[in-house]
Amino acid sequence: MIGVLVSGTGTNLQALLDAGLPVTAIASNRRGAPALARAGEIPAAAFELADYEDRAARDAAMADWLEACGVKLVVLAGYMHLLTPAFLDRFPDAVVNVHPSLLPSFPGSRPVEDQLEAGVTESGATVHLVDEGVDSGPILAQERVPVLPGDTPETLHERIKAVEHRLLPEVVRELCAR
Ligand code: GRF
Repeated sequence: MIGVLVSGTGTNLQALLDAGLPVTAIASNRRGAPALARAGEIPAAAFELADYEDRAARDAAMADWLEACGVKLVVLAGYMHLLTPAFLDRFPDAVVNVHPSLLPSFPGSRPVEDQLEAGVTESGATVHLVDEGVDSGPILAQERVPVLPGDTPETLHERIKAVEHRLLPEVVRELCAR
């Protein structure tokens, strides 16, 4: 029973769906997130910060909704807000994120640009457990991706995402079998 949180295009959500994993709810912090259009028959909802008193209230409402949908494992697939304890305490050791760098290197919101600006020759994809920090929880799986001459943020990100789309469903499948 997987809940997926999205903010963007949702190609990682699509990879989870294509892998046949039991996604039972999809939530976003943005009503207009293109990823929500991938939900089909799966219950989907947006929890915009502006509709709540603060982040904790928003996160508690989102956790309530996911729990009501039967969610036991939460996957952040391009979810661009930090989660507060009001959310994380509801799903202990059961929130995972995918990130386009070899963590702990290049955490944050623009990791692909940061890696190109730093001139690295190797990048990668990381799947990790989520804690209160920025991309800082225990690493579950990691795979290297080469940076090629002439790469732009777009070409490098596409190469990393191709790996994410395989790695994330693999890790989520293992976690479901725990
Ligand atoms: C992915 O690269 C993911 O690692 C990062 O945000 C991007 C989301 O892409 N956290 P998408 O929305 O799954 O296409």
